[in-house]
Amino acid sequence: MHMSASINWDTLGFDAYRTRTVILSHFKDGQWSPIEKTETFSFTFDPFAQVFHYAISCFEGLKAFRQKDGRIALFRPDQNAARMARTADYLGMPCPSKEMFIKMCELCVENNLEFLAPYGHKASLYIRPLLVGMHPQMQLVPYPEAIFAVMCAPAGSYYGAHLRSCAAVIPGDFDRAAPKGSGSYKIGANYAATFRPYKYAHEQGYAELLYLNSSTREFVDEFGSSNFFGIKGNKYVTPLSDSVLPSITNLTLQQVARDFGMEVEKRPVPLEELAEFEEAGGCGTAVVITPMSHIDIKPVLAEPLVSRSFRYEPDGQVGPVCTKLYNRIVGIQFGELEDTHGWCHYWLD
Ligand SMILES: Cc1ncc(COP(=O)(O)O)c(C=O)c1O
Repeated sequence: MHMSASINWDTLGFDAYRTRTVILSHFKDGQWSPIEKTETFSFTFDPFAQVFHYAISCFEGLKAFRQKDGRIALFRPDQNAARMARTADYLGMPCPSKEMFIKMCELCVENNLEFLAPYGHKASLYIRPLLVGMHPQMQLVPYPEAIFAVMCAPAGSYYGAHLRSCAAVIPGDFDRAAPKGSGSYKIGANYAATFRPYKYAHEQGYAELLYLNSSTREFVDEFGSSNFFGIKGNKYVTPLSDSVLPSITNLTLQQVARDFGMEVEKRPVPLEELAEFEEAGGCGTAVVITPMSHIDIKPVLAEPLVSRSFRYEPDGQVGPVCTKLYNRIVGIQFGELEDTHGWCHYWLD
């Protein structure tokens, strides 16, 4: 068991972590069991459970923050609840109601409070709700039996404690999502397909993979773990595609950009347009924003040839618009700036 006293809040990354408590409930015979807390970190599954054979599993990711005035906030949990409901429906799984989803996230925070950093460290508690198909079966049919578990991990940010730009690569020989496939749902199987290209990318010093639409490869879809956005003059541009995950951070950034008087364009983004952006980045709960230093195209990911490179910032540096957008969101999350849109969810006195 990790002890919170040993956590260095300032060097935390984004990793699986054994905290104190997991909150869970089972769906069986048409209903959810009473919410339980477990400290054993061990689940029991039938070896024929759907999840092992057919990847019937989906998840969510959101964060809790300890704010300047000492209050604790979850950031937009209603959006995660809605997205999980949409994904569960796609997989034919039972899904907790919005109220149950949020209640279990609250309980997860309350029962792991020692893993939520004191204010001032830029660290947070990452909450991972997980919905897993439990029914033992061979047939390819949905079955209403599942476990819904909410766990957490103390988190800095995906790429370290500070905002800095990274390199991304467009793999010519890998796609993320099939046209009309499952790309817009947060199912575990979508991520399985990224492990191999991530391995090649990381071996070559790229932090991220940028995927194109797989039918024509003419448009930008999204990064392996975040949505894409580009800045062009006073415009915030982000792809409209039915294969990308509807990112809650992207939704938030679009509103923040409007609040700054920027124009927001959500539309197909041609690959060629990458040459026209002054800044480009990824956005997601774990990273908020990952500004891109450059994006390379590699016809064959594992081979050395780079056929084209789009340059934005010198390595490590961050452009002014990314900085401004990032600071606004992080400021709201830590209670330093006014939450004019009511994004912070409070439930404790
Ligand atoms: C593939 C993918 N796209 C986008 C996102 C960003 O979504 P959100 O902002 O809701 O975290 C994520 C998760 O963080 C993701 O895994």
